[in-house]
Amino acid sequence: MKLTDLQKELADHRPATPPGLLSTEEKDRLIERSFLGLYRWYISRSQKTRNWNPHTDFNWPAFRTDHSEKLNTILEGFFAVEQYVPDYVFTLLRVIRRSHGRSQFHIRWGSEEEKHSDLWENALLFSRFRTPQWIEDYKHALREKEWELPWDNPLNMIFYTVIQERATQVNYLNTGLIARGKGSEADFANDADPVLANASQIIAVDEAAHYNFFLEGARLYLYYYPAQALEALHDVIKFFAMPAGDLIPGYDKFAAVVAAAKVYGPREHVTDVLDVALKNLGVEGRRALLRGIKRIRQVPTEAGEMRDTAILDTLDYQGIEKKVRQLFGRINKFEEKTGHAQISPLKFLPNSLG
Ligand SMILES: [Fe+2]
Ligand SMILES: [Fe+2]
Repeated sequence: MKLTDLQKELADHRPATPPGLLSTEEKDRLIERSFLGLYRWYISRSQKTRNWNPHTDFNWPAFRTDHSEKLNTILEGFFAVEQYVPDYVFTLLRVIRRSHGRSQFHIRWGSEEEKHSDLWENALLFSRFRTPQWIEDYKHALREKEWELPWDNPLNMIFYTVIQERATQVNYLNTGLIARGKGSEADFANDADPVLANASQIIAVDEAAHYNFFLEGARLYLYYYPAQALEALHDVIKFFAMPAGDLIPGYDKFAAVVAAAKVYGPREHVTDVLDVALKNLGVEGRRALLRGIKRIRQVPTEAGEMRDTAILDTLDYQGIEKKVRQLFGRINKFEEKTGHAQISPLKFLPNSLG
């Protein structure tokens, strides 16, 4: 049968996306708008609840000057990692600059990481473990090198930051246990210090807030782009390393001390970081993730049946949808107060695995 001109014209104008499915543009718009709302919510909370100062809010002169060498090595390592804040900020900023919400958040995140860097410098200075001159020289030596992005795309980096923030939080929470005299290792039995306990607690709360922002963002990608997001997550888990480990002189010694201290080692990375993050991301476990990825890769076509089955095996997709809906609800509630909802409301649109 020959097509009439009208039929032909209609066929030409038919959208590439089947009805009921979101187009890439719509998905991107929803993700972008959610990041903007999440960022607005985040700064209001950050300013109200976590507006601390690393110089004036701690009783630094009361910091103990007789800590164990091992604890001082740990503090020195934290200080070193946070010295690369300028690189953490501008390298990723270049990759996400097109996203208003993500890039604005990242600048704010950088200002909070900058406080962490100053906090650890103060801890190191007041511990008297090193002279001010030694610290100054060390700082310059560290900054001779530049940290580079482990992945130069926004998708992989959201998963990297989820894992990295959770790992950092675990580091500081466990250091806080030592500072409260509740560490499990005998080497740190005489390291109780209320100033360090306070510092570790405050900084760990910041890391939890960072983790939550990136987690919400990662769920948006898992919901709207599950196959690509799962592949990115798998890649990040497989090649994950803490930032700047390859740049810091003597990092191996620091890594050995934090692991032996049960602050952060391979065991904590699996049980307290990966297992927790994967659960929060709705992924059924590391093995399922690996299986799912293999099956996703076997499927030749984009919208193939098997791909969807593999995603549903790996991902608690309904759970993710619930969390994404909750996020939209939280943003809406906040933007009703600010008035943004009356002008440009965020509306949830369900994704279909089709
Ligand atoms: Fe930090
Ligand atoms: Fe952080």
